[in-house]
Amino acid sequence: MIPRKLDAFTLRLALPRDREACYAVCLGTGDSGRDATHLHADPEALGHVYVGAYLAFEPQLALVLEDSAGVCGYALAVVDTREFQRRYVEEWLPPLRALRSAPSGPAERWSRDEQLWHLYHHPELFVPEPYADYPSHLHLDLLPRAQGRGLGRAMMAELLERLTARGAPGVHLAMAADNHRAAAFYAKLGFRELARGGDAIYLGRRLR
Ligand SMILES: CC(C)(COP(=O)(O)OP(=O)(O)OC[C@H]1O[C@@H](n2cnc3c(N)ncnc32)[C@H](O)[C@@H]1OP(=O)(O)O)[C@@H](O)C(=O)NCCC(=O)NCCS
Repeated sequence: MIPRKLDAFTLRLALPRDREACYAVCLGTGDSGRDATHLHADPEALGHVYVGAYLAFEPQLALVLEDSAGVCGYALAVVDTREFQRRYVEEWLPPLRALRSAPSGPAERWSRDEQLWHLYHHPELFVPEPYADYPSHLHLDLLPRAQGRGLGRAMMAELLERLTARGAPGVHLAMAADNHRAAAFYAKLGFRELARGGDAIYLGRRLR
């Protein structure tokens, strides 16, 4: 149940006013789990791609972790990934496309920001199979001050409980292939590899 106190931290549903802080968590963990701030001149690009639409479209599956210094983690999910992707393309991306044009020139010369702006125009919509078994997906990120205290496990438990209550049969997530710390965490929590593609590994866990 939330809101819930976890030592000095509070786990609660995200509110619209948490958007900026959640984007900061995304940037603070955006380089395969490490701080990506130095890699981006546009501090919102990562959040626009990986956080904003979840807060907007599935607020009942958007959890934030907070301490006295502010929001330091989030756990975000959607029940039906394909339905989410439809809204992401039709509703979420058009204003972002108006904000940034697609980068030109060879992709290997694009900055990290340009790689994200490219995704505004050409989103990656891969979903691992079998879809019927793992139709939901999630994102979980904690800033360093919240890591290694059992909080990621607690947030995951709350999120999976909520997905189960919504009837989800299983959930998947994408992880950077070189994020070895996260790989150990997800293995411990019962996720298994479903697919690989590019720099990503797709993990899944059945919920019933
Ligand atoms: C990965 C992450 C979500 C894990 O959350 P966390 O709060 O640090 O992990 P917890 O303290 O809840 O650990 C839960 C379990 O995983 C294990 N675990 C966590 N990191 C581990 C590691 N590097 N190696 C081995 N086990 C690990 C813990 O030992 C713990 O096991 P236990 O409950 O049996 O003692 C968090 O560290 C994080 O957000 N990292 C940066 C962003 C990121 O990489 N996000 C994932 C992107 S896909």
